[in-house]
Amino acid sequence: MTDTITARLSDPATARESGHQKMDWAREHMPILAALREEYQADQPFAGERIGMAMHVEAKTAVLAELLAEGGAEVAITGCNPLSTHDDVSAALDAHENVVSYAERGVDDEAYYAAIEAVIGHEPTITVDDGMDLVAAIHEDYPELIDTIVGGCEETTTGVHRLRAMAEDGALEYPVFAVNDTPMKRLFDNVHGTGESVLASIAMTTNLSYAGKTVVVGGYGDCGKGLAKKAAGQNARVIVTEVEPRRALEAHMEGYEVMPMQEAAKEGDVFVTTTGNRDVITREDFEVMKDGVLLANAGHFDVEVDLDALADLAVDTFEARDGVRAYEMADGRELNVLAEGRLVNLATPIALGHPVEVMDQSFGVQAVCVRELVESGDEYGPGVHDVPDELDREVAEIKLDAEGVAYDDLTDDQAEYMGTWQHGT
Ligand code: NAI
Repeated sequence: MTDTITARLSDPATARESGHQKMDWAREHMPILAALREEYQADQPFAGERIGMAMHVEAKTAVLAELLAEGGAEVAITGCNPLSTHDDVSAALDAHENVVSYAERGVDDEAYYAAIEAVIGHEPTITVDDGMDLVAAIHEDYPELIDTIVGGCEETTTGVHRLRAMAEDGALEYPVFAVNDTPMKRLFDNVHGTGESVLASIAMTTNLSYAGKTVVVGGYGDCGKGLAKKAAGQNARVIVTEVEPRRALEAHMEGYEVMPMQEAAKEGDVFVTTTGNRDVITREDFEVMKDGVLLANAGHFDVEVDLDALADLAVDTFEARDGVRAYEMADGRELNVLAEGRLVNLATPIALGHPVEVMDQSFGVQAVCVRELVESGDEYGPGVHDVPDELDREVAEIKLDAEGVAYDDLTDDQAEYMGTWQHGT
């Protein structure tokens, strides 16, 4: 066990027990990782590899890290957000003989980046990131490691955006799979996972209802679509804000109200940003909001709600509830920020992140991508790579099999028909 974790936990044994209990529960509901575990334990595909991970260290991630370790890797892991780690899970994971966990909840910037460096100190041959902090730190501060890195995997939209920007600058020097972009990840994790867990986390943190309220969803991408649909399903009136005309039109055609944030700001009771962009809710918006609104962010970084401007406007601020900070305006209105503007489904004190089944899919894709890097990494040049479709299909097939869902196969004639252009009217 790492010194920092031991020092922080008042009762490490109890913490480990609690962490193991959470991992056991998650593992039981992750049939894709269970099937891959059987394969990897037998084949030991990662023998000799060192896998560095920066992810939300909670139970589902721990099951992925454990799977990679049981496939033969030495795993070093830390968090990818200062508030999303479950310390008990981190301690339980750290007790695994092939895993070292540096993740701790509530760290400041200095400790956060020190833990990233500690993971890099293991000289990873493969990186698994959620947000790209590990790739960035390696390229900026430890470029000498790049030669021995086979490749990496990136979990989230913002990380893939950053990686693509890096590749465009010619700065990305090893191959990274855009795990986020696969159908098995994006269409389930971003849509259903974010939709469900964000709404659940806000409801549990505030003990307030959506029924009869106006929920403003900032950004109608994959996450925003799930949020809007599920908020409407909880009897909220839903307003969507967008900057991309086709996404705005899509939201409009789905029956949601679409308007600029400055207008939505006057109407909303609950605001959730999910754009991957910055300054989505700003000073002018705070100035016209109703008393008592809830402000939450589901995007990767804490820059979507301009908290500096809010603090500047406030005459007082106080902890209204665990995980809720109230900002009192000069006119007496109180605006409530959840989880310090960080990923609300992972960073509130009671947050559990996405449902287990959803993460089984996302991490199933991660696990087959790591295997692909070990088996065929030298076939991929530096840059961002789409996950090969057959790997995504493999994960879908395992899941359907586990669910007992049968589906049709193309006949030979159908396959041939779909592959030809000569058939006309
Ligand atoms: P996406 O790219 O599919 O959608 C983002 C949408 O926001 C786009 O339609 C874009 O036009 C819109 N947008 C950009 N700037 C805007 C602005 N100023 N105002 C209104 N709309 C704006 O991305 P996706 O997959 O929905 O992810 C969004 C964010 O959520 C990313 O930061 C991603 O990393 C994060 N994420 C968070 C998860 C969680 O567990 N909370 C899970 C998955 C992703």
